[in-house]
Amino acid sequence: MAGEDKIGPTAHYTAYVWSRLRLPYSELFATPKGAALFWGFRLAGEWIAAVTPGVPSLPQYLAQRHFAIEHALDRLKPDRIVELGAGLSRRGLTWAFDRGVDYVEVDLPHMVEAKRALIPERLRTPRLRHVSHDVLSPSFREELQALLAGSERPAIIAEGVLGYFESEARTRLAESVASALAPRAGIFLADIRHQKAGMPIGVHFLRAGIKLATGGRGASTDFRDEQEIRAFFRQAGFAAAEPMDLRDVARAPRVPSPARVWRARAGVRSPE
Ligand SMILES: C[S@@+](CC[C@H](N)C(=O)[O-])C[C@H]1O[C@@H](n2cnc3c(N)ncnc32)[C@H](O)[C@@H]1O
Repeated sequence: MAGEDKIGPTAHYTAYVWSRLRLPYSELFATPKGAALFWGFRLAGEWIAAVTPGVPSLPQYLAQRHFAIEHALDRLKPDRIVELGAGLSRRGLTWAFDRGVDYVEVDLPHMVEAKRALIPERLRTPRLRHVSHDVLSPSFREELQALLAGSERPAIIAEGVLGYFESEARTRLAESVASALAPRAGIFLADIRHQKAGMPIGVHFLRAGIKLATGGRGASTDFRDEQEIRAFFRQAGFAAAEPMDLRDVARAPRVPSPARVWRARAGVRSPE
């Protein structure tokens, strides 16, 4: 299935980073596979970034995007959150179990099954649902609309996901999100890289690692620049899209990053 073998290893890696950052519930999702990947990359050379001031390491870059998304959610106060490609992220438990917000985690069947098995009985709540959908399938547009039914201020998140899809698939997914959000006052949050932004050393290593782990198929092509990202959102049907300003995000590491979290709003477009 699309993306399964390609992105699986990175879900383990990021979950291990969330546990290194001691984020709530992250210890539940730190797997031996995640630890092996993390320390493998670190020993293979990512340590150079980790010890060099001013050079962003991969964990710092991941922390930036994770905290930026948290910040946007805090401000929106959504009544439902749908996270696409949620993987082994700990966020769903915080929002559903601690904050009582409806949270839907979408992923491929094998990941949904693995995630469910890692959540202990005492933390299960009807507020947190795990559903299997292929976000690239033609039926996903309707499936997403059904997941948003009854919500007025939803947030849809794609963290560490869009960058792995080829341009056509990215566009199809963004169109599904825009049409599901259109009748509502919701937002779409996604981290997006562009070529002009450069790449921290750690990202080079992770990309090389993904390539190795997936038999040669690495992450997909980046956008050229911010202008191309704005056009992407516009063409998908969003009314407005802006990269988030990290100065507003208290916990985000202050390091240069190859990616920004974009906050996109559907609805009536403002005149160009
Ligand atoms: C890099 S991981 C990110 C996990 C999580 N968002 C985080 O930041 O910790 C990407 C996730 O996307 C999922 N994925 C890949 N292709 C998918 C698809 N076509 N439909 C649904 N999920 C997909 C993978 O299974 C994986 O869990």
